Amino acid sequence: MRLRSVVRDCLPPVLFRALRPPRPTPLSYIPCADTIVGARSAGMSVCDYVETLWNASGSTDRIMCRLVESGAISDRTKTVVEIGPGTGRYIEKTFSLCRPTRYEVYETAGDWREWIAKTYKVEAPQCNGETLHITASDSVDLIQAHGVFVYLPTVVAVSYLREIVRVVRTGGYAVFDSMTEACFDATTVSAWLASKNRYPVMLTLSFIRSILETDGFTLTSKFMHPYGEGVAEYLIFRR
Ligand SMILES: C[S@@+](CC[C@H](N)C(=O)[O-])C[C@H]1O[C@@H](n2cnc3c(N)ncnc32)[C@H](O)[C@@H]1O
Repeated sequence: MRLRSVVRDCLPPVLFRALRPPRPTPLSYIPCADTIVGARSAGMSVCDYVETLWNASGSTDRIMCRLVESGAISDRTKTVVEIGPGTGRYIEKTFSLCRPTRYEVYETAGDWREWIAKTYKVEAPQCNGETLHITASDSVDLIQAHGVFVYLPTVVAVSYLREIVRVVRTGGYAVFDSMTEACFDATTVSAWLASKNRYPVMLTLSFIRSILETDGFTLTSKFMHPYGEGVAEYLIFRR
């Protein structure tokens, strides 16, 4: 019996909850029910609907094309993990481009997690917001995160980067966008300041490389894409 279960059985539940190690507070996201209703009344897919709302029509397809061109998505892509899928727009596109036999998602927003599990029949475990706890080590062909590392607190991002090192197999890919130092020139900083948005968290490219490249990953390509008031940098790593 593990120490944790012994402690849980001996303590009153209120005290046990109070003594649990803290988990990061989940970052909030757009509500699932309203978004689905909005898409239905507009007669659009959820992906097209949110792209229209965010003035980003075609952006999901453009990004997925880059993943195919780089080899991150191919016939060999069988096990996929996605962190923070939100509406699931990248799940839908991934299934249209390859045939994964296993697709695991880690999503902190409970409403979207349930909707995604039901809609796409993917594995969607309870998400603790920082680890890939049901994913086996050295098992993943592609791990992707879109619009997530742009605002994760640094320590949470590092936890996920270490998990990426644990789960991606040799030959597998890690793809995500991040607000690197290249995303903050003076004009872009002014645009952020002129807006109400304060969510970006800079994660420098050298810091990301220092974690992934010491463990066998190589940065195979990178590109900028419009994000919020400025841009985010997509990074494609292969192991
Ligand atoms: C900006 S949205 C992007 C959603 C989706 N990837 C897209 O591009 O449409 C960020 C997503 O990450 C989720 N999220 C935030 N913090 C998270 C965490 N620590 N672990 C997993 N998901 C998280 C949010 O609930 C939300 O679904």
